[in-house]
Amino acid sequence: MRFSVPGSWFQVRVQVRFGVLGSVFVCSLFGVFALRLDAQQGRTTKDAVYSAAQAKRGEAVYTEKCVACHGAKLDGDLGPPLTGQAFLGIWGGLSLAELVDKVHNTMPLDAPKTLTRPQAIDVVAYVLQGNQAPAGAADLAEAALKQVALDSMRGGPSRPAATPAATTSFPATGTVNQVMRGVLFPSSNVLFDVQTQDPGARTSGTRPEAASTTVRYGDVYQPWQMVDAAAIAIAEAGPMLMIPGRRCENGKPAPVDRADWQQYVQGLVDAGRAAYKASQTRDQATVAEVTNVISDACANCHRVYRDVPTAAGRCTPP
Ligand code: HEC
Ligand code: HEC
Repeated sequence: MRFSVPGSWFQVRVQVRFGVLGSVFVCSLFGVFALRLDAQQGRTTKDAVYSAAQAKRGEAVYTEKCVACHGAKLDGDLGPPLTGQAFLGIWGGLSLAELVDKVHNTMPLDAPKTLTRPQAIDVVAYVLQGNQAPAGAADLAEAALKQVALDSMRGGPSRPAATPAATTSFPATGTVNQVMRGVLFPSSNVLFDVQTQDPGARTSGTRPEAASTTVRYGDVYQPWQMVDAAAIAIAEAGPMLMIPGRRCENGKPAPVDRADWQQYVQGLVDAGRAAYKASQTRDQATVAEVTNVISDACANCHRVYRDVPTAAGRCTPP
C-alpha cells in the first residue's frame, strides 16, 4: 500500500516536524557551518594538537585495521588516500570532530563501530602526522575536537579548481516522471524505511517478502551503505532535473529556466546532502528526522508543478 500509489510515499513520514526532534534537526542542518565557524575561532592542526606518542598508538590501530584499504603510506588503495589534496580538499577547514566521527561511525568499512572512541582519536592523530601536522606535548582529547580545524596544509583553494565546461552533453532520455520513478522515488523510500527499520540492526535467516528495501539489499551492500547511496542519489539528481529539453509526461518542457524551479532543485540537492550527513552518523533517529527535510523538498516543487488540477497543467508556471 505504501509503495503502490505513486506519490503516497510521503504519507509514512514521521510527524516530528513541530516536535522537539524537529527543532533539534533545524540546528543540526547548520552543524557543518557552525563547526567551521567554531574551528575558525579556535585552533588548527598547525598548532601541535596531538602528541607523537598518540600518533604511535594510532599507527598501531591503523596497521591492524586500516592499512589494507588505505595503503601503507596513507596513500590509498581500495579506499581513498588519507593524505594530500584529495583528502585535504574534503576535510580541510572542517573540525576534527567531523573526521573522528567519520572514522568512529563508519570505519573500518567492513566492521564499522568496532573502534573505541580513544582509538578513533588516536588513529586520526596518526593521519594528522601523515599530513605533516606538527606534534606537540599533549594528546588530542575528545573535548578539543570541535575547536580544532583541520588545516588544509598547503593553503590555496581547498578543492581542486573546477574543470572547464564539459564538451560532451548528455541529453535527457526520460520524462520528469521517469526520473522521479527511477531515482527519487526509490531513493527516498530507502530513507523513509529508516523511520521504522534500523539499518544497524542485525538480521539473519530468510527475509520476509515485504522486508524493507534496506533489509532486502542488505546482503549485497551493508544497509547503512544503501542509505548513504540513496541520500547521494537524491543530491546528485539535481543536474538531471536541470537538463534543458527534458519534458514532462504531458509534453511540456521542464521549466529549467525559471528561478523557482532552480530553487526547488537546489532545495532537493541540499536535502540530499543533509541526508548524507545524517546517514554518516549511523544513527536511526537522526536519519528519521532528516526525512522531513526530504519530503518538504519534494513537496515544495510538487505543490507548484505537479499537484495541479489537471495533468495538462503540470510543469507550467503558475
Ligand atoms: C575494507 C576497506 C576499508 C577499511 C578496512 C577501512 N576503510 Fe576507510 N574507507 C574505505 C572506503 C571505500 C572509503 C570511501 C567510502 C566512504 O567514505 O564510505 C573510506 C573512507 C574513509 C575516510 C574518508 C576519506 C575521504 O576522503 O572522504 C576516512 C577518514 C577513513 N576511511 C578512515 C579509515 C580508518 C581510520 C580506518 C581504520 C580504522 C579505515 N578507514 C578502514 C574503505 C576502508
Ligand atoms: C524541481 C521539482 C521537483 C522536485 C524537487 C521533486 N519532484 Fe517529483 N515531480 C515533479 C514533477 C513536475 C512531476 C510530474 C512530472 C511529469 O508529469 O512528467 C513529479 C512527479 C513525481 C512522482 C509521480 C510519478 C508518477 O508516476 O506519476 C513521484 C513519485 C515523485 N515526483 C517523487 C518525488 C520525490 C520522492 C521527490 C523528492 C525526493 C521529488 N519527486 C522531488 C517535480 C519535482
